[in-house]
Amino acid sequence: MLSSCGPYLRLLSCSFILFLLFKSNHAKRDLKSACTTCQQITDNFNKGFERTAKQNFGGGNTAWEERKLSKYETSEIRLMEILEHLCESSSFECNRMVEEHEEHFETWWFKKKTKHPDLHKWFCIETIKVCCPKGTFGPDCNTCIGGSERPCHGNGACDGDGTRGGNGKCSCDHAYKGEFCLDCVDGYFNEVRNDTFSLCTECHRSCKTCTGATNEDCDECKEGWEDQGACVDVNECTQEPSPCKEDQYCLNSEGSYSCKACDKACAGCSGPGSDECQACAEGYQDVEGSCTDVDECSQSEPACPKEHQECVNNKGSFSCICSSGYEEKDGECIQQNDPAEESEEPQATTEPHGEL
Ligand SMILES: *[C@@H]1O[C@H](CO)[C@@H](O)[C@H](O)[C@H]1NC(C)=O
Repeated sequence: MLSSCGPYLRLLSCSFILFLLFKSNHAKRDLKSACTTCQQITDNFNKGFERTAKQNFGGGNTAWEERKLSKYETSEIRLMEILEHLCESSSFECNRMVEEHEEHFETWWFKKKTKHPDLHKWFCIETIKVCCPKGTFGPDCNTCIGGSERPCHGNGACDGDGTRGGNGKCSCDHAYKGEFCLDCVDGYFNEVRNDTFSLCTECHRSCKTCTGATNEDCDECKEGWEDQGACVDVNECTQEPSPCKEDQYCLNSEGSYSCKACDKACAGCSGPGSDECQACAEGYQDVEGSCTDVDECSQSEPACPKEHQECVNNKGSFSCICSSGYEEKDGECIQQNDPAEESEEPQATTEPHGEL
């Protein structure tokens, strides 16, 4: 319908359709909110009734008042005190409803209260007709799907339940689906089911769909699990090639796996730490099954061959620095000429060797 809303010629009829759509949506929402408003009013009426239960006319009663007015309990004054507190002053809807129907409250107070003690039922449902009995909905208070005792078979909410609005359709609770909220969503199965009752229970964590509670009852396995009569975890880590990168090891978990970084002493590894390396990284060597830093500075061949250089070992590499009293200039270590600026700290010269 909206796709026919082209420019120019259809503009008028189109905006009219939109207007009707808006109006009907608006009206439906109004019917629900009118009932909510009415419910608040009658709730507050009942509260006011309790609040005023222990009051009387107060100290100012004259003999005339005692004679002229009926007892406070059933008096107009008590009614007025209750009516005054039915709405928040800011609630337009509420104040309008009370104002519009004030005479109904008087009628009920003086004539109907005894025979119809439930004000919500008498006022909201039967008199101004903005609400319906529980489990019914819409202008004619039709019965919700599944019956008014257990709308949506106890597994969902009936649209417009208890109001003159709504369409009576069910919005099902979590785990339930279907027009009647008797079916289970994927990942759940019917533990109990007949025409009027359904209990959906979660499948085993390995199942995408199932007919029972164990991993043998799966119709279909979830990703990361495979069917071997029952759904069992796939060990992704034994697959060739490994799902992880070269500098990572694989850690299997139920239904999944993860990749973790190898120790930096390793070039490839099968687990955490420097003793699970497949090979040692550059600058490390195998010492009793564990990749250990090579001390380049204590090799027979000097690692820092230049004059006045010192070798400093670090993990996986080493660097050459000028000896104390010397500074780096154009790749050479030369004597510092200004003794005032002489630094205690040796300074780095060449770029580090090997891998860092
Ligand atoms: C459906 O099952 C429920 C719960 O077990 C039971 O109370 C009810 O009587 C059953 N109804 C029918 C029609 O079998």
